[in-house]
Amino acid sequence: MSLKVNETFNHSFKPRVIKNSRKTILTISELTKSYNSSRNVLNKVSLEIKSGELIGIIGKSGAGKSTLLHCINGSKKTNSGSILHHQNNGSVQDITKYNSKNIRSWKRCCGTIYQDFCLVPRLDVITNVLMGRLGYESNFKTLFKIFKNKDKEKAIELLDWLKILPHALQRAENLSGGQQQRVAICRALMQEPDILLADEPVASLDPKNTHKIMDALTKVSHKGISVIVNLHSIELVKQYCTRVIGLSQGSVVFDGSPNNLTSNDLDNIYNDETTL
Ligand SMILES: Nc1ncnc2c1ncn2[C@@H]1O[C@H](COP(=O)(O)OP(=O)(O)O)[C@@H](O)[C@H]1O
Ligand SMILES: [Mg+2]
Repeated sequence: MSLKVNETFNHSFKPRVIKNSRKTILTISELTKSYNSSRNVLNKVSLEIKSGELIGIIGKSGAGKSTLLHCINGSKKTNSGSILHHQNNGSVQDITKYNSKNIRSWKRCCGTIYQDFCLVPRLDVITNVLMGRLGYESNFKTLFKIFKNKDKEKAIELLDWLKILPHALQRAENLSGGQQQRVAICRALMQEPDILLADEPVASLDPKNTHKIMDALTKVSHKGISVIVNLHSIELVKQYCTRVIGLSQGSVVFDGSPNNLTSNDLDNIYNDETTL
């Protein structure tokens, strides 16, 4: 693909929602999930998620953090409870009732990034970002990397927004971990999601790159997108998140402002495990 990175683009990538006008995006009610009958990995989890929130999910390893994200994005079937999506057109759909076709379109609305970026290492950065259109374009077009000009412009705009445009034509595998994670965020945003889920997105990054990714997620939330991020660091939660949810053995044991998180709450969440 030929690309002039110095070309001028119309920067129309503006916040969609004013911070004070937060609306409910998801209503999760009594969500229960077990992988086998012996115990519930998620136990009657109820949460209301609003636009523009940056929510940190904390809890011990095995508490159910990843499972919760997988249930929200439809990758894992739930046993009972509901996840209502309040759509932009006013209709409300329970995503736990979706068939596989509906789940595919739900994943456009609900982007996910992971600890290990999940980019295609030998493809260049811009093509990796354009792969975010997979949910919209035919397999044929994506296979032969036939992308519309407006999608290329959007990809460039996103890369510029997260300050990685100069690397647009490099292979993804040649970028640092922090740069790759920013590419993964751009790829997720190509779908124009309402929600971005991030499963330990900074677990493999050094402190400088960790802050760059948390800054990027903050920018995403300021666009009105709800960001839900699994984190291990209480410091990061306190510095960046607007809300923190503590999970212990699949149950929500804290839900509130990070400023209100006491050492007693941390004991409940981590069952006395040292966390700082
Ligand atoms: N695919 C699976 N099959 C069976 N058990 C699973 C599976 N995935 C996760 N678990 C179990 O569910 C529990 C919660 O896991 P997980 O959601 O990955 O927790 P966390 O992300 O908080 O570390 C753990 O006990 C884990 O072993
Ligand atoms: Mg996990």
